[in-house]
Amino acid sequence: METNTEIKRKRIFSGVQPSGVLTIGNYLGAIKNWVTLQDDYECIYCVVDMHAITVRQTPADLRRRTLEGLALYIACGIDPQKSTMFVQSHVPAHAELSWVLSCNTMFGELSRMTQFKDKSQKHADNINAGLFTYPVLMAADILLYQTDVVPVGIDQKQHIEIARDIAERFNGVYGDTFVIPEPYISKTGMKITSLTDPTKKMSKSDPNPNSYIQIIETRDETIKKVKRAVTDSGSEVKFEEGKDGICNLMNIYSAFTGKSYDDIEKEFEGKGYGDFKLAVGETCADKLQPVRDEFARLSADKAYLEGIMKEGADRAAYLARKTLSKVYRKVGFYAKPQ
Ligand code: TYM
Repeated sequence: METNTEIKRKRIFSGVQPSGVLTIGNYLGAIKNWVTLQDDYECIYCVVDMHAITVRQTPADLRRRTLEGLALYIACGIDPQKSTMFVQSHVPAHAELSWVLSCNTMFGELSRMTQFKDKSQKHADNINAGLFTYPVLMAADILLYQTDVVPVGIDQKQHIEIARDIAERFNGVYGDTFVIPEPYISKTGMKITSLTDPTKKMSKSDPNPNSYIQIIETRDETIKKVKRAVTDSGSEVKFEEGKDGICNLMNIYSAFTGKSYDDIEKEFEGKGYGDFKLAVGETCADKLQPVRDEFARLSADKAYLEGIMKEGADRAAYLARKTLSKVYRKVGFYAKPQ
């Protein structure tokens, strides 16, 4: 609870959609940074299930993956004593603020969103209004908590920019209401690409399971997938243009080990792609072993996970309600008589 005597730490909000089992792209692009940031910021991490239904989901799978998502956050190192974790649909203020913000968002600016263009191509049979207004819900997620910093992969940068534009517009019309959020995008890991097509982002919803590595993938499977990763016909481990596949593996290796590209080039001088791929696969599997073990342990304790989920939703709802009441007052909604 905030008190006047407490020095207020800056606030972080971020989330992952439970639209698939989380990949090393989600881990290296987002969750790994969330873990580091928890010591210096007040962090709120959400499983954004409402975003996931912009694409058709099997209800039982969505339900299971939502609980698994929370378990994975903890297994990756998010500490329930330090950070708030909750499920988006448990806090109705997200949908409520989203409506008000949608009345302050322009059709034209939503039309420019590249993710909308990509997803409407991929799901041409289901270009629903939610897919279009998705960035408004995301802006509501962020702005509800008066968020200072949003740690994400590079693919979400445009969505944070629109959240900033919406907040600035709202503040301009109604007076200071929202903190203007900043993106936090780490250099390594910000864009992990597909193992089968290194020009594309690695995605948990890719129909080809060889294109991604799940955080909880088995050791053998991880090593096998990296071995099979598409690379060019050369043999030198070098970070250079035209070697998208090798650059991606170097990026993964660097993000897990902290080694620079120069160090990696030296380490594999005179060795071929085979040795390098084996090292990347093994490193990936080894670094994630503790996460897999912890995930297995937590998955057996549904009561514990539900306890965290409930506590997180109560705390988030309290914070969200404060912003929503302010917004309702500012736009002129009549307060419900007590
Ligand atoms: P989502 O579920 O697609 O991805 C979750 C996080 O993982 C990052 N990410 C990646 N980073 C590097 N390489 C990749 N291949 C890769 N794939 C995914 C994403 O950038 C993201 O940080 N709209 C968001 C979820 C969201 C959200 C929010 C995020 C909803 N509300 C509010 C921050 C704040 C999304 O679809 O992420």
